[in-house]
Amino acid sequence: MRTVDIIRKKRDGGELSREELAHVIEGYTKKQVPDYQVSSFLMAVYFAGLSETEVADLTDVIMRSGVVVDLSAIPGVKVDKHSTGGVGDKTSLIVAPVVAAAGVHVPMISGRGLGHTGGTLDKLESIPGFNTRLTTEQFREGLSSVGAALVGQTDELAPADRALYALRDATGTVESIPLIAASIMSKKMVEGIDALVLDVKTGSGAFMKKQTDARRLAQAMVSIGRRMNKRVLALITDMDQPLGNAVGNSLEVMEAINTLRNQGPPDLTELSVELSARMLMLADSAKSYDQAREQCTTLLENGQALEKFKQLVANQGGDAGVVDAFEKLPTSSAEYTVASPRGGFVSRIQAEDIGTAAMLLGAGRETVDSKIDHGVGIVLERKVGERVESGDTLCTLYYNSDEHLEEATQMVEDSFRIAAAAPEAKPLIYEIIQ
Ligand code: URA
Repeated sequence: MRTVDIIRKKRDGGELSREELAHVIEGYTKKQVPDYQVSSFLMAVYFAGLSETEVADLTDVIMRSGVVVDLSAIPGVKVDKHSTGGVGDKTSLIVAPVVAAAGVHVPMISGRGLGHTGGTLDKLESIPGFNTRLTTEQFREGLSSVGAALVGQTDELAPADRALYALRDATGTVESIPLIAASIMSKKMVEGIDALVLDVKTGSGAFMKKQTDARRLAQAMVSIGRRMNKRVLALITDMDQPLGNAVGNSLEVMEAINTLRNQGPPDLTELSVELSARMLMLADSAKSYDQAREQCTTLLENGQALEKFKQLVANQGGDAGVVDAFEKLPTSSAEYTVASPRGGFVSRIQAEDIGTAAMLLGAGRETVDSKIDHGVGIVLERKVGERVESGDTLCTLYYNSDEHLEEATQMVEDSFRIAAAAPEAKPLIYEIIQ
């Protein structure tokens, strides 16, 4: 098999076999196929696309490039949730304990924040002592004893994805929906799960700005899941404004804890209940959608989800006392409030700019190697559709260094739009793809 023939076949719109895809991907990870040929292959995929069979095969090849976690010894359906990323999205911190409190196992391998988007691992690591680097054995143990474990990707899981992503980044081929779908799903399928709920975000703070692209990505990922005999469902949800009010690691942990106390912002609570209920349904743990939602709401109301969160934190070495003492979390030394320049209605909060401003304050990473400050961020006091008077606080910036304060403040001010009339209400959940 010659790599150049595979490149030509794809370039000319042909359908590649699993063996041909494996030749390129495995060859690349073993350094037998040079990066200039893999770059050319990626560009051919970018333009010619991949069939559903090819995407599923590619996912499988990437997934098998490293260790595949075996959770077969743990009984029942293991179900995870994955979000394509956004600003203020802390649903994993809520959904994992809710679903585990309902008796369903949640193995969750999460990522770190980059650019304007946050990452679950960074949020969790703002809890003193919390260890996201568990061994596979500790991961299994957490899953058995607590019902949920939240860890980071290790070098041994889907290593081909990391190598391919770096090459895509350098060759202008990141924005290929089949390549994105295979990349995300290979990292999820490696976890040993049976079912997966995908939260595909769309809007100004999302990876997929347009709903049509979000739909295509969701459809591609659901199709991969089906072909790999997994139960997969995708929700397309709004990321035009940040989710909830807090953006920044310890600020988001506090908001997640408040939500687990059933005192969270309405949009965050609603999406968390919806995602959790969908997970319970995929796990056959609820008789109906309504019953699943009711069960999740009850777990927030009766304190069992919060109790499960404490167990999860303690089991991973974290200080569960943060739940009752937010002062144990990292904090900022200074704050700056942004006031509304006029009365009216908040008609837009540009999510990407809020995320970028939080990153400038130190809450996020400009590059993968940047250091983050867990105590800083932005809290929105008003969300889209709310009425404001001139001088009312729109949001507060929490910071420890004023190096980028001016730039961040300008960005936040520009991200708010105040209109005379209330904007048309938009749904939080646009579509369900299954
Ligand atoms: N997230 C991923 O994990 N992979 C991609 O290719 C894009 C976003």
